[in-house]
Amino acid sequence: AWRSVVRGTGSYLPAEILTNHDLAKIVDTSDEWIFERTGIRERRRAAPGELTSDLAYNAALQALEAAGIGGTDLDLIVLATATPDETFPATATRVQARLGMTRGAAFDVQAVCSGFVYAMATADNFIKAGQAKRVLVIGAETFSRILDWTDRTTCVLFGDGAGALVLEAVEDNGGDAPQGVLTTHLHSDGRYHDLLFVDGGPSSTQTAGHLRMLGKEVFRHAVVNLADSITEAVAAIGLTPSDLDWIVPHQANRRIIESTGRRLGIPGERIVMTIDRHGNTSAASIPLALDEAVRDGRVKRGDLVLMEAMGGGLTWGSALVRW
Ligand code: ACO
Repeated sequence: AWRSVVRGTGSYLPAEILTNHDLAKIVDTSDEWIFERTGIRERRRAAPGELTSDLAYNAALQALEAAGIGGTDLDLIVLATATPDETFPATATRVQARLGMTRGAAFDVQAVCSGFVYAMATADNFIKAGQAKRVLVIGAETFSRILDWTDRTTCVLFGDGAGALVLEAVEDNGGDAPQGVLTTHLHSDGRYHDLLFVDGGPSSTQTAGHLRMLGKEVFRHAVVNLADSITEAVAAIGLTPSDLDWIVPHQANRRIIESTGRRLGIPGERIVMTIDRHGNTSAASIPLALDEAVRDGRVKRGDLVLMEAMGGGLTWGSALVRW
């Protein structure tokens, strides 16, 4: 039997910083409104011509370096994005080519803001099934390209970026405190399409479309679904939320993250937050936050780390890792 162990993490942010004050020049909003309602101060925006695959590639290079391996050592790339370079082929194959990886497979998964936990679950199951040994898992987005920059209720919330990690298969010897991915749980409920969607696509309008959201409704579902997800993940290994060392949540809104924590009695010091500087980077937000907490020494060997997210679909889920 095989298990997946995290060998390295990486991340990348585009250079341009867009502050709340910058946005106040584009739409009728203010730093106070945005910060108070969301916790966001600034976000990054990809340069013209800088694509999701470029962000993904840069994050991937860092993760590979941290893992001490090269692109040719990989046998699978799973890339989560809702903003692919092109309708096809998968953005993962563009990253594959740039990494010089010519064997194995590369594909995208699409679960919007839950994309990274979907990609983790997919990669982990390939490893458990013995079908992959070294997997690069990436979350990368350029949401700036699908925002309606005249809609103040959505354009202030999102940012661009990418994060990645390398999973490696290790023999599962059935020990008491195994390292690596312990559980993954995925959920979706397509009845909630209208709460959060993009009003375009190749089959419907032949345009890329813009993000549309009923913010209050999304908020309400997020707090309930995320609290359930956290409880579900730890219960699967006989623990409770207070046993977690770190929660690395999808960064959608500080109030969602804090209400979820309060519901479960998890102190704020154990929750990794980057929303103030990154905004909501959809599938990239978890690996961006994780990489920061790994590099600054917060997440240490032996820690119990839970990643959780909810996004358009609706989709939601978690990945629980013993670091
Ligand atoms: N600046 C100033 N005023 C604004 C802005 C803005 N950017 N946006 C909306 N307003 C106004 C509204 O028009 C409204 O005015 P009105 O009362 O005159 O009609 C007022 O502010 C209050 O708006 P609400 O929508 O009620 O504000 P709310 O407190 O619900 O906050 C928000 C809105 C931040 C979007 C919140 O609902 C939220 O965070 N929801 C979750 C959304 C989210 O995180 N989505 C992504 C998660 S899932 C995923 O990541 C894909």
